[in-house]
Amino acid sequence: MAKNQQKFTALFATSPRRIVAVVPAAGIGARMQADKPKQYLCIQGKTILEHSVTALLTHPAQIEQVILAVAPHDPYLADLPFLNDPRIVLVQGGETRADSVLNGLTHIVPSDNTWVLVHDAARPCLTHTDIDQLLAIQDPNGAILAIPAVDTIKRATATQQIQQTEDRNHIWLAQTPQFFPVDLLRKALQTALQQGLAITDEASAMELSGFQPHLVTGRTDNIKVTRPEDLALAEFYLSQR
Ligand code: CTP
Ligand code: MG
Repeated sequence: MAKNQQKFTALFATSPRRIVAVVPAAGIGARMQADKPKQYLCIQGKTILEHSVTALLTHPAQIEQVILAVAPHDPYLADLPFLNDPRIVLVQGGETRADSVLNGLTHIVPSDNTWVLVHDAARPCLTHTDIDQLLAIQDPNGAILAIPAVDTIKRATATQQIQQTEDRNHIWLAQTPQFFPVDLLRKALQTALQQGLAITDEASAMELSGFQPHLVTGRTDNIKVTRPEDLALAEFYLSQR
């Protein structure tokens, strides 16, 4: 691990950093209970996916490619206006979010010092300032946007009674984008998936491989549209821009 870190610190210093993005967009949105996958619901005349991808495409860091992992035979895709952008690459999503991300990563042409921003299709309120904060971190372990927990945190028993109260001071809620060297993340996700572990974000795969990614304080409006009531909230946040 330490050897890996040294190697990447050295690379970081010598070759310019390339940035690509992977957007997992192959979920069905079961918790949203809508008539289509939630990334295709509209807010202010644009799909949630379009809001999320546009934040990446318009960022001044010139993200080289935005790789979208989409469901096989996705019937909603053809209508998306941003498909004409030469930086968009479509790949097939997988059974879980981690599989979708890994499929996206395998389409990145390997080169020294390429970093990937992984961003949920279901987070349409991402701002350029959030992306700026993340890209400013120079940590070979990578970094993620997250927010410190504000509610008191309870650990539950199997029968949904309180087992204990956790120390909130050390609890953060992970968001996306999450930002890692492509090669390290690909290996970490492959290893975790081979072990049959349930991986719900990129950082957890990196953690299992021994890395300690940096936590960057994000914005509370970078919500993941998950349940029906989240739609109105995302709509409100976007209307304030
Ligand atoms: N995702 C994906 N491939 C999967 C599952 C999820 O690319 N097999 C994507 C979703 O499209 C979403 C992101 O991962 O942009 C975050 O996942 P989540 O919020 O859980 O979305 P869904 O899995 O679609 O929703 P649900 O869990 O309610 O079914
Ligand atoms: Mg899901």
